[in-house]
Amino acid sequence: MAEQISKAELEQLARKHLWPCFSPLSETDTYPLIVSGDGCYVFDDDGKRYLDGLAGLFLTNVGHGRTELADAAFEQANKLHFFPLWTFVHPTAIQLAAKLASMAPGDLNRVFFGSGGGDAVETAWKLIKQYFRVKGQPDRYKVIARNIAYHGTTLGALAITGVPEIRDPYKPLAPGAFHARNTHAYLQKEQGEDLAEACAKDIERIILQEGPETVAAVFLEPVQNAGGCLVPPTGYFQRVREICDRHGILLVSDETICAFGRLGHMFGCDKYDYQPDIITCAKGLTSGYAPLGATIVSERLAAPFVDSDETFMHGITYGGHPIGCAVALANIELMEREDLPGRVLRYESEFRSELESLYDLKFVGDIRGAGYFYGIELVKDSATGERFSDAECKQLLGDILSPRTFELGLICRTEDKAEPVIQLAPPLIAGPEEFRLIARTLRQAITEAQEIMG
Ligand SMILES: Cc1ncc(COP(=O)(O)O)c(C=O)c1O
Repeated sequence: MAEQISKAELEQLARKHLWPCFSPLSETDTYPLIVSGDGCYVFDDDGKRYLDGLAGLFLTNVGHGRTELADAAFEQANKLHFFPLWTFVHPTAIQLAAKLASMAPGDLNRVFFGSGGGDAVETAWKLIKQYFRVKGQPDRYKVIARNIAYHGTTLGALAITGVPEIRDPYKPLAPGAFHARNTHAYLQKEQGEDLAEACAKDIERIILQEGPETVAAVFLEPVQNAGGCLVPPTGYFQRVREICDRHGILLVSDETICAFGRLGHMFGCDKYDYQPDIITCAKGLTSGYAPLGATIVSERLAAPFVDSDETFMHGITYGGHPIGCAVALANIELMEREDLPGRVLRYESEFRSELESLYDLKFVGDIRGAGYFYGIELVKDSATGERFSDAECKQLLGDILSPRTFELGLICRTEDKAEPVIQLAPPLIAGPEEFRLIARTLRQAITEAQEIMG
């Protein structure tokens, strides 16, 4: 057991053997050791408590230490730890598929299970390609996503991802993915409905440039994570839906983060009132107590596979793992019993106003988001909108804010895929006490950064 090994030994083993995600190997032994969790908090090996302001990685929606989810995993492992969804089926996957179909909007009634968000996105693209092939439109395979949007790292999903530094080292990627303007609004010329129109039009620009008969789908998150919680301006999704329909193109709502209460609804598309053809989801589906992803598909898309011997030649061993499905069922039941989406709706304005109290700080430019999902964009001078240089940005996030917020007991994300932002996505059980702690900690860390950087 990891707890029985000394910290020094663990660091040495990490340095020698562990290869963490998106991280320089030279720093492996310097990362904090997180050993337990309870509610909104996690604890390091010295027993120091941290507010988990990012819900692990945007997923611990019901909070840490929920024994009913551990029990659901334990019971399922004892009964049937694994059997494939491949010429066999098992009861938990069937029940979960039916539950998701009953929750998802419109006729999204068919569920393909995977193990995470990226493979749900990859599944969606492959399914869409095959759908159009079967429908006699084999040239429709291209997809459009948005600049800086993150949709996963496997080569297909990576092509859809719009973050240059994550894509570029792995080119050539799967062909046919294009990127349109995202809805970053801060300091932009257009705002509100004008911005919605300009951004939707940019998607249509690519459709017309590539030829509408070659474009299969548009992949969008309800609130775009990378870039710092980019919310859709009023009317954006309605306009995109209208453009997709006019050109016979499908709309995929990538809700890997936004589903299961994060925005105060079970699905993000419910909040913004649009009907996708596919929802991809993962993370909050199990609150991270077991890996699971799902691609929830409309009846129209499933129809050619239902009405013929056409087979979707796709799958992974752990897709719809029985333990993941059992945990997801227990997780959704818990969310419904405690009405966690309702709780987010009740408290979201309090969360927002605690964050907005930081607007008096010179470095705080824009605070945006929805539900329990917020980004704070940092600028050198909020009065003028002057931005940080790349070197200043590195100093601000890497040398000051990231270590300092952690030292002060707050886990949040600092990133600069576009402009520098701090991101927050606490567990949905968080309330006023946690919001105050977040605001207090950020005030202290940003104030110190202002003093150091002038
Ligand atoms: C919108 C979105 N899509 C896809 C993914 C990839 O999910 P995973 O890391 O489970 O493959 C993520 C991960 O954060 C995401 O936020």
